[in-house]
Amino acid sequence: MNELDSLVESATQLFAQSATPADLENAKAQFLGKSGRVTELMKGMAQLSVEEKKSRGAAINVAKQAIEAALTARRQALADAELQLQLKAEALDVSLPGRQRGQGGLHPVSLTLERIQGIFGSMGFDVAEGPEIESDWFNFTALNTPEDHPARSMHDTFYVEGGTATAPNLLRTHTSPMQIRHAVQHVKKHRAALDAGQAMPEIRVIAPGRTYRVDSDATHSPMFHQCEGLWIGENVSFKDLKVIFTDFCRTFFESDDLVLRFRPSFFPFTEPSAEIDIQFQTGPLAGRWLEVAGSGQVHPNVVRNMGLDPEKYIGFAFGMGPDRLTMLRYGVNDLRLFFDGDIRFLSQFQ
Ligand code: PHE
Repeated sequence: MNELDSLVESATQLFAQSATPADLENAKAQFLGKSGRVTELMKGMAQLSVEEKKSRGAAINVAKQAIEAALTARRQALADAELQLQLKAEALDVSLPGRQRGQGGLHPVSLTLERIQGIFGSMGFDVAEGPEIESDWFNFTALNTPEDHPARSMHDTFYVEGGTATAPNLLRTHTSPMQIRHAVQHVKKHRAALDAGQAMPEIRVIAPGRTYRVDSDATHSPMFHQCEGLWIGENVSFKDLKVIFTDFCRTFFESDDLVLRFRPSFFPFTEPSAEIDIQFQTGPLAGRWLEVAGSGQVHPNVVRNMGLDPEKYIGFAFGMGPDRLTMLRYGVNDLRLFFDGDIRFLSQFQ
């Protein structure tokens, strides 16, 4: 093997050993660079005769081209290998299941609230909403529960700084303040008619929303929902409450033979007062009495605080627990599940 052949061979070998493009460029410099071995051979021709230069030059050129070809081949091989690695690293597994767009849904208690509004809406009830941070006046005093009334201790709540008895100072313990708020608005709207001795359209409203008490166990949460109901007119009686509420419960639970019981009770803002219990005739809860609401005929002092004459206007109110209705409807036995935010639980209601 002549000197040029072995030069080509050692170049080819060195290129083959170059594992990275940077190594390869260093190897190239050793042969084709400014002071590389091929360049040195060219420089060495200076002393040769013209004839010798011709043949020697041609031979060196052949070797040079062979080295360049080896270099190009190796460059290509390294680039191919690099591409293969990259493709492998970025490979997509087309057999993986697609990422689904999460489908949202309503919270079970929201579903209940919608259901309640739909049913009472069909019975001609408006829907009103009011503040969760309430004043002492609306939450207690206007509802015939003055300061020092023992019933206040059953409504232990959270107080906010800076409030006064008439400015917001507590988290409402029930939705009953909405009885006053809504009635006052209603009366204001019909003031002229009332002053002229004309009839006022009846007040018929429900008021759903969040309420708060210092209470926490499997059936009590410091935040819970209530839905108030109020019907005031010139001739509204307890009988109407019974009809309306029975209708509501039977529709809500889709159970025509459901039975109601009005159990005497006490609330400062109603007189007489009753707890409403329901009893299913079939299903897993059949035969048990289950408490679902407080109710009663609106107390004359409360009617007066609405701006109406209790000698003329009368009616009933009720307050029910949508959380409890949701538990009964779906057979859930721990209230806290509703507020833990566990998607595995909540997604079952969609
Ligand atoms: N506000 C009462 C409670 O939270 C329920 C109720 C509402 C009772 C309306 C009578 C009339 O317990």
